[in-house]
Amino acid sequence: MDVYRVTGGARLAGEVPVSGAKNSALKLMAAALLAEGTTRIDNVPDILDVTIMSEVLRQLGCAVGTADGRVVIDVPGSTSTETDYRLVRRMRAAVAVLGPLVARFGRAKVAMPGGDAIGTRGLDMHVNGLIQLGADVRSEHGYLIATADRLRGAQVAFEFPSVGATENVLMASVLADGETIIDNAAREPEIVDLIRMLQAMGAHIDGAGTSTLRIRGVDRLRPVSHRTVPDRIVAGTWAIGAVMTCGDVRVRGARADHLERVLEKLGDMGATITEHDDGFAVSIDRRPSARDIVTLPYPGFPTDLQPMAIALGSIAEGHSMLTENVFEGRFMFVNELIRLGASIQVDGHHCSIDGIERLSGAPVEATDIRAGAGLVLAGLVAEGVTDVGHVMHIDRGYPGFEQHLRALGATIERVSVPDIDLPE
Ligand code: UD1
Repeated sequence: MDVYRVTGGARLAGEVPVSGAKNSALKLMAAALLAEGTTRIDNVPDILDVTIMSEVLRQLGCAVGTADGRVVIDVPGSTSTETDYRLVRRMRAAVAVLGPLVARFGRAKVAMPGGDAIGTRGLDMHVNGLIQLGADVRSEHGYLIATADRLRGAQVAFEFPSVGATENVLMASVLADGETIIDNAAREPEIVDLIRMLQAMGAHIDGAGTSTLRIRGVDRLRPVSHRTVPDRIVAGTWAIGAVMTCGDVRVRGARADHLERVLEKLGDMGATITEHDDGFAVSIDRRPSARDIVTLPYPGFPTDLQPMAIALGSIAEGHSMLTENVFEGRFMFVNELIRLGASIQVDGHHCSIDGIERLSGAPVEATDIRAGAGLVLAGLVAEGVTDVGHVMHIDRGYPGFEQHLRALGATIERVSVPDIDLPE
């Protein structure tokens, strides 16, 4: 079993590059299915989830090549419409092929996804949206099966601005007959990125970045080259790491305007934020002050930075409340943080945090990608050694994680530790 072994005490300082967003790249890869021919996507992070999505596309019949941050996808005139249960179970984002497949081929059979254990994460909004576009959707033996002769435009109103449902309905509607209006659409920068690529492919979409999207369906789309938007969650992780360690970090290639609420909050806690043409810098020379945080869909404070924010609150000066409004199961990792000595009480979707000066190193386990990153940041400010287990979660979202941390001055290594052998 691999663990990240972190020795606390270092201050993060220096420059760190940020590559393209995982949550965008995976959907851009799915969108390639909408057009026959060769799609090129640049600035794709070198992470396990991209490998899984490449395999999903290969099993559908595409040729997929990856090298130096570029993914090249050759989509044939007709593909299989069935995804492999073992792959989709490993990564929820694979469900993004549902909309493109049913739009282009009139059929999709997609295994019910797995992925992070951060709540129940239903698919009802994806399914209802497709039904409103005229698809017949049923669930059978662990698969969702969607069929339609041709999708037709419709009014789709989401009760919550779900990122995945917005993307699936959007990718289905671009090839539907007539006009679709998506109300209460998610507005995340990754969705705007997907819209930009679809527009370049020939789709007619108005309202990018707002909660009402208006789509006029077309008969066919063409393959394009597209560059993935920078990863705001990875960038935000480095920013929070800088504040936790009283550091001075320049995050290169990031977009400060995609992290407005986060950087504002860090500024409030005592950090100095400096924006640059190609990113931003975060520095602080004293223990950060505790501040309340509420997670919300974009442009609110991102739920994906919630574990790092709780880790930050646990060493900040004073008391703070963190309220999670997006995923109900996202406090699972808090028990791990408590193993490091954090003083936290969970009550429903609120987390009450009393900041202490130093955590105390211990073995802990990552429960999902972001919890893993949060625990490593906590290890940086813990006395002694913290082993963060289940690092494959971190591999799913952070390219070159320990190399970047080491370059910033952290003491971290990836080591194999034997599992305990129980007596026969
Ligand atoms: C995406 C991101 C994830 C991020 C999340 C919210 C990817 C691969 N993942 O996940 O990192 O944390 O957005 O910013 O892009 N829900 C339903 N029914 C549905 C769909 C969603 O009840 O049909 C609920 C979910 O359980 C959750 C909430 O809506 O409580 C938000 O989910 P959603 O925005 O869809 O997140 P994902 O697309 O899964």
